[in-house]
Amino acid sequence: LKKLFRQHAQSARPLKQGAVLGAGIMGGGIAYTSALRGTPVLMKDIAEKQLELGTSEAAKQLARQVKGGRLTQEKADLVLASIKPQLDYENFDTADVVIEAVVENMKVKHAVLSELEGAVREDTIIASNTSSLRIDDIAVPLKRPENFVGMHFFNPVPVMALVEVIKGAKTSDVAVSTAVGYGLAMGKTPIVVRDCPGFLVNRILTPYLRSFLQLVADGADFVQVDRAMEAFGWPMGPAYLEDVVGMDTGSHVVDVIAAGYANRMPPLAHDALKLMVENKRYGQKNGIGFYRYE
Ligand code: CAA
Ligand code: NAD
Repeated sequence: LKKLFRQHAQSARPLKQGAVLGAGIMGGGIAYTSALRGTPVLMKDIAEKQLELGTSEAAKQLARQVKGGRLTQEKADLVLASIKPQLDYENFDTADVVIEAVVENMKVKHAVLSELEGAVREDTIIASNTSSLRIDDIAVPLKRPENFVGMHFFNPVPVMALVEVIKGAKTSDVAVSTAVGYGLAMGKTPIVVRDCPGFLVNRILTPYLRSFLQLVADGADFVQVDRAMEAFGWPMGPAYLEDVVGMDTGSHVVDVIAAGYANRMPPLAHDALKLMVENKRYGQKNGIGFYRYE
């Protein structure tokens, strides 16, 4: 990591103010982690309810840190105050890096990022936390694609160490170095990867999750599969993991990666994720997915 830091420190832009678009599972986690590690962050969403969720999750995490003696109440209050929930782009011209974490939908990302470009400075680096969409495809409507980079965090953001930094064809070295620098500042382990559907981790994880969906389509009991994978030594089984990720997001990711590598992934006869999205069983985010949450 020291080597990585030295390699990118020269060209990385100084980072005083961060911002995230989307206060959901990922945007909220990124905002919290950024603030905890000392970079204040603006957190924009289109839904007041989501801003409240993002803020209350951060408050809950901070309370745990205080209870565990890792943070003083005074410091926790300062961290929470450095996350600014908002429905508009106020002060986005102060942001050095903005991380987009809105829904995994190309049309929505195009609209949101085009709008964002008008609200930030010309030198602001814009990063997308997309799980699967190619950075070059997301960059199509952008006026400054050189400032655009992928920054793929993992869920739950506060504890997952890895962040994939994705360099698109037009992404500048400065944008890559700044994203690596922000990842390091957040205490993460960044890796720089090439642009393709699913990047590195989701190209491995998605075939695993798809094999699980195939087993379910064949009649397997998902609880038994989860128990087996836990006994095998993984921290959680695939059904529980889909609940953590969110069925809507998971379903988009599977579709994008299956389409990107169609010759390697035959279509599924029955898709449990789609069925669950149709039945509004989104996972932990709304209290019901494969499992029920109180
Ligand atoms: N938010 C914040 N902190 C959390 C947390 C959460 N959601 N869940 C656990 N933690 C913290 C706990 O507070 C605890 O911290 P302390 O040691 O300071 O008390 C620590 O993590 C360990 O927690 P636990 O002992 O309760 O739980 P665990 O041993 O099961 O570890 C885990 C938790 C690391 C999340 C583990 O369950 C795990 O690795 N799960 C797999 C997660 C995974 O695969 N994520 C990737 C999803 S796919 C993705 O992100 C990509 C995509 O594009 C869709
Ligand atoms: P989520 O559904 O929890 O949150 C998405 C948020 O975006 C919501 O709060 C929604 O109100 C907001 N939003 C929608 N349109 C918006 C707009 N125009 N402006 C501002 N906010 C808007 O989703 P998530 O799980 O946090 O996923 C967000 C992104 O992160 C997706 O691209 C997803 O693929 C990626 N990702 C997800 C995971 C995961 O495990 N869930 C992991 C890594 C990456």
